[in-house]
Amino acid sequence: MILRDRVAIVTGAGSGIGRGGAEIMAREGAIVVVADLSPERSEETVAGIVKEGGRAEARPTDVTDDAAMEELIEGTVGGHGRLDILHSHAGIQVEGNLEQVTSEDMDDSWKLNVRSHFMAARLAIPQMKAQGRGSIIFTSSNSGVFVDTGMFAYITTKAAVIMMSRQIALDYAKFNVRCNALCPGWVDTPFNEPYMRQMGGREALEGYVRNRIPMGRWATVDEIAESILFLASDRSSFMTGQALVIDGGECFN
Ligand SMILES: NC(=O)c1ccc[n+]([C@@H]2O[C@H](COP(=O)([O-])OP(=O)(O)OC[C@H]3O[C@@H](n4cnc5c(N)ncnc54)[C@H](O)[C@@H]3O)[C@@H](O)[C@H]2O)c1
Repeated sequence: MILRDRVAIVTGAGSGIGRGGAEIMAREGAIVVVADLSPERSEETVAGIVKEGGRAEARPTDVTDDAAMEELIEGTVGGHGRLDILHSHAGIQVEGNLEQVTSEDMDDSWKLNVRSHFMAARLAIPQMKAQGRGSIIFTSSNSGVFVDTGMFAYITTKAAVIMMSRQIALDYAKFNVRCNALCPGWVDTPFNEPYMRQMGGREALEGYVRNRIPMGRWATVDEIAESILFLASDRSSFMTGQALVIDGGECFN
């Protein structure tokens, strides 16, 4: 087990990629704190992990609420005495180009897609520094490494996350705290419902994925989870400040 007894927090772990990452880390021996907005989904993830013999606990959290984030991180460190892995994952996609995105959409996007990662890292760093070890993973997107139409708020926030992870990587490398950005392409989760609406339904989205992705298909949650495990574990021990793109070649198309 490559994460035996390590303590991990995963935000947005009640569904899709976040849940897949929480499960694979637990399978590798980590104690996983599941922090989703939804208490029910947090508990479901924990129940799934425990059923497989893993260790997990639910701490439902709205990552845009600073006091709740403090409670999450302080509660985890207080309860387990350490924090080895922070996967700050929750995010939103608001569709629209520059003229369609409202200032409110933009503020909401920056609050969840950028500011919540900043708060999570800011709160986790003192413990990781003191331990002399830590891996921070921010979920960005392959949309953070290229430009596209109709996703103004999403692309700008996801690009900002990559720069934030580089800056943290630079500033905290001397403490053996690493920070990398996870950049998935298309993964079939409820997250893509707004895209589906934007494109005119499921069939249109399936056609887009077939034509647009050089590998001609979606990524599976398990494929992204493997990358999360890599970034979380010592398998990536000399890797920091990188944007790990897992997108079937889309960013080259
Ligand atoms: N699915 C994709 O194709 C894809 C591709 C690239 C990047 N991403 C990124 O992955 C993340 C979404 O993950 P997913 O695809 O598994 O989606 P999902 O919809 O399956 O899960 C998202 C989870 O985040 C939780 N959440 C939402 N707002 C929250 C908040 N304020 N606080 C805490 N939890 C909150 C939801 O309750 C939900 O359980 C986003 O950051 C997104 O940008 C997804």
